[in-house]
Order: sequence, then structure tokens, then C-alpha cells
Amino acid sequence: MELKLDPWGAVHVDDYNRLFQEFGISSFDEILPKLKAPHPYMRRRIIFGHRNYDSVVRAMLQHRPFAVMSGFMPSGRVHFGHMMVMNEIIWHQQQGGDAFAAIANMEAHAVRGISWAKCRDLGINEYILSLIALGFQPSGHIYFQSENFKMRDLAFELAASANFSEVSAIYGFSGETTIAHMASVMAQSADILHPQLKEFGGPKPVVIPVGADQDPHIKLTRDLAYRMRRFLVERRGDYVSIRGKAAGDDLMQAAEKALMDADFGKVRRYAEHIDLTEIRESEGLVSGELMEEIDRMMRDVEIKHGEFGFIPPASIYHRFMTGLAGGKMSSSKPESHIALTEDPKEAAKKIMRAITGGRQSLAEQRKLGGEPEKCSVYEFLLFHLSDDDEELRELDGECRSGRRMCGTCKKDVAERVEIFLREHQQAREAARDRLPEFGIKT
Ligand code: TRP
Ligand code: SF4
Repeated sequence: MELKLDPWGAVHVDDYNRLFQEFGISSFDEILPKLKAPHPYMRRRIIFGHRNYDSVVRAMLQHRPFAVMSGFMPSGRVHFGHMMVMNEIIWHQQQGGDAFAAIANMEAHAVRGISWAKCRDLGINEYILSLIALGFQPSGHIYFQSENFKMRDLAFELAASANFSEVSAIYGFSGETTIAHMASVMAQSADILHPQLKEFGGPKPVVIPVGADQDPHIKLTRDLAYRMRRFLVERRGDYVSIRGKAAGDDLMQAAEKALMDADFGKVRRYAEHIDLTEIRESEGLVSGELMEEIDRMMRDVEIKHGEFGFIPPASIYHRFMTGLAGGKMSSSKPESHIALTEDPKEAAKKIMRAITGGRQSLAEQRKLGGEPEKCSVYEFLLFHLSDDDEELRELDGECRSGRRMCGTCKKDVAERVEIFLREHQQAREAARDRLPEFGIKT
């Protein structure tokens, strides 16, 4: 019962955590204390899970290069769910990350059969304008998949390391699945890894903010990143083993030389691995930092020999808003969501019609109180329309104790949605003139 008093909806978070133990996603709780000024989504536990985000946080804190990347399939209208991903990209850009946003027109064309012209129209007039209006800076990269040949070359290269059975096990491909559909899966992995190409400064931690449903893509891509490596650096207690993975003699020799020059400790070279023994500073266990240093050195060797040396991408996962009509928020059900391009008055009406966490009658509401954790109207405040944690805490308390009625609440939120959309849409129109700054031809 005590959990229920958490205005960030800890009950949901708990469910998610359970879900994730199964899939190997880590809880965001362990990251939160490391961040000086976390994004409200983090503070409010809307971002609840991650893979390998520590690597990004470390780079962020030590002012080392890192990047943020995500993608949008131009298949319909841009809505508040997409806005979450956009805000996460922009936040990381503000923290100093190189920012990448893909308009996944190859995916939309291959998987949904949407024409190239329509993809372009939706890409610009739905997604890109909102992304810029929300604060994406031109130092970052917005691109259509079909026009990014560095990414496409990488997709081909990745495809050489992925086979049909493994991708079909992940995506449920069958004999009827088109080759283009499969290629679009490789394009997505290449989207995720291409910020680490030489052209963009080489290997670096990259975070992919996505909804939890996108985790299979992340897992596959992390796996591919690992497969493209030629050395595997492993801690073995007080020594380090560097295994060559089809590294070839040239690479093994180069690695041996680099390690000897670095003076980490005694270097013993075998046919397919190199051991570092008597490691400096090691007292029983080799430190994580030293492991990273050795790994970085091995990546450098790989890159000098024309390999990629990818670092497995990190991810952060946000939970979804409840749909306005109950159930999931879905782009294909207009009543369930509000588009960022929607008429503000119509949007306000949707809020007034929304299913809340309220009770059947006013009397019951007064007696039992409402359930904000099940309330799509409350979620608009929690996710988007209130910066003020204190305000939310109060509202949560008033709702639960039956002092707040849904009618009042809806009117308040409807008004805020209307104002927000009006302002956002103005910013979108201003963004239209700035498209060339982002390399977008109209
Ligand atoms: N597949 C994603 C979607 O359906 C879009 C996407 C394409 C993407 N490339 C990406 C997401 C890279 C994250 C990272 O919405
Ligand atoms: Fe939701 Fe407000 Fe009703 Fe509570 S009072 S259930 S927060 S609409």
C-alpha cells in the first residue's frame, strides 16, 4: 500500500523491473545517484531501465566524447510518445553528446509499404519540425536513412555477420518476409552503430533512448558490435587475457607490440591469445579502469587495421503513457493519443473525453479517492506538462484522498494541453525556415 503513495507510479515501475530481470535490462535506480541534474523523466522514474548506460554517464562526467541516437519511422503523425524520445535526444545533446536522429524511411517503405514521397512528407512535416521546435541543435545530424550512405555501407557490412535464423528468431521472419524488410533491420543496427565510424570520431559510448518494446533491436545490435571486434579483452583475476577473434597474424603482432610499448606488465603471446601477467598496480584484481584502457588500446589497433572497434551501444528505456481511451497509446488509434500537429481545441476535447483513474460516481470518488497511477490525464502532467514535482505530489495526494474530482482535473489538463500545442505549433512553423541549417532540402 505504501508504494501506492509514490506519485511517479512505483507500482508500474515494479512490474517493469520484474519484466526486465528476465531480459537482462538493469534498473535505472543504480544510475540516478550518479547524475547531477537528471532529466525529469529520470527523476520521475519514467525512464526505468537501461543497458550499459554507465559507460555513457562516465563519458558525460569526464567530458569525453559520447553520442545519442534514435530513429523515427515516418508512418503517421508525430505524437507525445515520439516527443519523449526527441526530448531525450535533445537532453543528451545539451549534455555535450553528438546527436543523431534517423528518419527511418527505408523501414517505413519496406515494412509498411509507404511511398518515398510520403515518407519524405511525413518525415519533414511531422517528425523533423517537432524535433527542431523542441530544441534540437544543428550541430547534430538529422537524416533520412535512404540518403545516408555511410550508414547503408555499414548496414551491408553488418549483414555479412548476421544470418537468417538468428534474425528470424528475433523478428519472426518467415519465407514470405521480403529481403527489403530484412535489410531494414540491418539499417536500424547501422543507424545505431554509425556514430562510431571514423568519420564521426571513431568508437565512443552511444546511448539509444527508446521505448521498452525496441529492446530486441538493441540486443541484436550489441551482439553485432561485439561480433565485429577482433579482440576480446578478459579479466582473469590478477591477469588479463586478450583473445584474438579471427584476428590474423598482422593484428596479433600489432597488438603484442602495442601492449609491450604500453608497459602494462609481462606480455606472453600465444597462437590465438595474448596474456598480460604481472600487471602493474594489480593487487589480486585488475581494476575496471585498466581493463578499459587495455580495451581502448586494442580497439585502436583494430581501427588502424581497417576494423571498426565498436563499443556495444547503451540504451535507456522509458515506459509508455496510458492511452486516452484506456489500454495502450497507439498511433493507429486516433482517440488513444494526441498528435503534436493536432488542432489544439480538438486535443482539449480528447482530454475531456479521456478515461481517468476516477470512480463511477462523485460520492464514490470522495469516499475511495482516485487512482492517478491508472489515469491518462494525470500522466499528461507527469510526463509532459508539469515541471513542478511539488505540484504533482499535491495533486496525487488530493486525488487519492478523494478531495479532487476528475472534472476539474480534466479541465485543467485540457487547458494546458491546448496552450502547449499552440506554442509548440508556433515553434514548428518557425522551424520550417530553419530546415536548411539542418541540411534538409525542401
Ligand atoms: N524501428 C524504429 C521504429 O519502429 C525506428 C528506428 C529506426 C530506430 N532506426 C532506429 C529506433 C535506430 C532507434 C534507433 O520506430
Ligand atoms: Fe485522474 Fe485527476 Fe481524476 Fe485523479 S482526479 S483520477 S488525477 S483525472
